[in-house]
Amino acid sequence: MLSNLILIGMLVFLILFAVTMIMHIICMVPYVPTNMRTVDAMIKAAKLRKRDVVFDLGCGDARLLIESERRHGTQARGFEIAPLIYFLAIGRKFLFRSKVQIHFKNFFNDNLSEANVIFCYLIPKVMPNLAEKIKKECKKGTKIISNTFHIPGLKPHKVIKKNPLKRTPSIYIYHV
Ligand SMILES: C[S@@+](CC[C@H](N)C(=O)[O-])C[C@H]1O[C@@H](n2cnc3c(N)ncnc32)[C@H](O)[C@@H]1O
Repeated sequence: MLSNLILIGMLVFLILFAVTMIMHIICMVPYVPTNMRTVDAMIKAAKLRKRDVVFDLGCGDARLLIESERRHGTQARGFEIAPLIYFLAIGRKFLFRSKVQIHFKNFFNDNLSEANVIFCYLIPKVMPNLAEKIKKECKKGTKIISNTFHIPGLKPHKVIKKNPLKRTPSIYIYHV
């Protein structure tokens, strides 16, 4: 009985792992968590206020969202397309007793108009489509904070330069 349960558990894990890998290949973005120093720098760059609604497009384990909520009491919403990483985010949400919303969803199929602040850590290849989506859907005043990669077609309000000593990457800040 116990060995059957273990076998089923392992099978479920393997299926989730395989689907996670497939989703990473389809969306072309691997899971690379932002280090906590960079989380700190991105949240500071966003100058968050309590009334802000924060999105993370490809939220990973939801660290940016949970920290934004913990430090500033913001509402926060994340999108994650890879199942194992989504469950990681759900686990972290419960661990921190957080109210952040995590959607198991491709963020390109949602609307960005409710966000005041958008965090992202994606790859250059998806940036042109993201730029179009931002121009179409984001309201005036929305801040976009991109880890490492510039969003072509948007003019940065500010760029925080990479600091190899602190292990922080370039951070691009845009105001719609
Ligand atoms: C580089 S990781 C960054 C995770 C997190 N934002 C952080 O900074 O720690 C990018 C994540 O975005 C997810 N992702 C990529 N494209 C996506 C899409 N179109 N919709 C939802 N999630 C996506 C990937 O599965 C991956 O977990």
